[in-house]
Amino acid sequence: MRTLPSRHNATCALPCATRRPYPRIVASPQTPVTSRTQVAIVGAGPAGLLLSHLLHLRGIESVVLEARSREYVEQRVRAGVLEQGTVDTLVSSGAGERLLREGLVHHGIELRFGGAGHRIAFEKLVPGRAITVYGQQEVVKDLIAARLAAGGDIRFEVSDVGLDGIDGERPAVSFWNKSGSAIIEADFIAGCDGFHGVCRDAIPPGVLRFFDKDYPFGWLGVLAAVEPSSEELIYASSDRGFALHSMRSPQVSRFYLQVAPDEDIAAWPDRRIWDELAARLETVPGWKLSTGPLIEKGVTAMRSFVTEPMQFGRLFLAGDAAHIVPPTGAKGLNLAAFDVTVLTEALAEWYASGDTALLDGYSRACLRRVWRVQHFSWWMTTLLHTFEHYDAYDRRLQESYLDYVCSSDAASTSLAENYVGLERAIR
Ligand code: FAD
Ligand code: PHB
Repeated sequence: MRTLPSRHNATCALPCATRRPYPRIVASPQTPVTSRTQVAIVGAGPAGLLLSHLLHLRGIESVVLEARSREYVEQRVRAGVLEQGTVDTLVSSGAGERLLREGLVHHGIELRFGGAGHRIAFEKLVPGRAITVYGQQEVVKDLIAARLAAGGDIRFEVSDVGLDGIDGERPAVSFWNKSGSAIIEADFIAGCDGFHGVCRDAIPPGVLRFFDKDYPFGWLGVLAAVEPSSEELIYASSDRGFALHSMRSPQVSRFYLQVAPDEDIAAWPDRRIWDELAARLETVPGWKLSTGPLIEKGVTAMRSFVTEPMQFGRLFLAGDAAHIVPPTGAKGLNLAAFDVTVLTEALAEWYASGDTALLDGYSRACLRRVWRVQHFSWWMTTLLHTFEHYDAYDRRLQESYLDYVCSSDAASTSLAENYVGLERAIR
């Protein structure tokens, strides 16, 4: 029979993910295999993997449970823009070596509207701060590699994940995998399982308050095997709708088009995508869009969503499990990284001293930044997209505001400091 260690026994001075203090109990096929860890993490997206990595550096053991295969999570194309603070976290934790080598550091973005491009110059407006363009799936690959190199425990392709005892001191996660059913008992559970995960729903009804907003459009995103037509990202607002030109490398470009939220991707053959991108982006005299083969296509609906609080008992929600933003501000992954930085500090303090102050303040510390980012993402979305209900007057107001943002140092500094990411005060 396993005994529950005291907090202090559970802490080790050295990274202890390779150490298994609790022997695994092998049971009959009918009985779930029960094991124990300090923090059970549901979800191997950026939030879950970074949390596991940061905890390991603090000597705290974790097990990560992921519904999908390793190949799937390493190929899933999503975010591309990392804030300065996210880059700093990855680099200082030792997971940023390839990011430093291959990431594209950008010191500005372009807002394109009214037949002209307007550069938001970070080097002038927020000196010393920049963004790095580096695909989310590359971050995921780097973090998986770091965890596995350190002997970390990531279980891919698990199913039927269920949470138990989250309001007590011995929460547990049950699941199935290839070998049968299993239970992991832990001191804490981190719900890093994205917007459609199961952790948020494990919290009893009436505890959480939800805030949300749907947008009357989605983004059609494509990856193209073609050299970017611009050195920096272009956010283009036109009467035909919004378009974004981003990139992944000197050979691969990433584009988005504003479309209906339920747009049928089958209605968008490659030719139509390139024509629409050209119509929305080639609005500056002399500027040409280079075209090439499309590697990947998908439509994402847009949503703003916040859960308050982000914790119940021993369950802590982080990343998209707790909040969603429309991608116009490029913030979702960055916010997920911030949450788990706060959670790591709080757990490390509890394991070191038993002090619950930072754990108790987790939601408050995260939600302050969450709401700033919510506002910025909503604001960028409203500023740049075309709304069906807009009349000519509304459109003129939007153009006037865009003009102000690009011509006033105060307004463009506000955009720039939010875009590169506000300083990370975690206490
Ligand atoms: P996820 O990445 O969703 O990871 C959750 C993980 O949990 C997944 O691997 C999932 O398979 C797993 N899971 C779910 N349910 C279960 C279960 N029951 N059991 C076990 N595992 C489970 N953000 C930015 O910062 N910058 C950008 O430029 C940017 N661009 C974006 C563009 C698009 C088109 C989209 C869609 C998003 C973009 N984002 C951007 C947002 C960003 O991708 C997300 O915010 C980020 O993935 C959140 O990470 P996460 O780890 O919280 O959640
Ligand atoms: C991306 O490159 O995928 C990207 C860039 C900027 C955004 C959203 C997505 O605002």
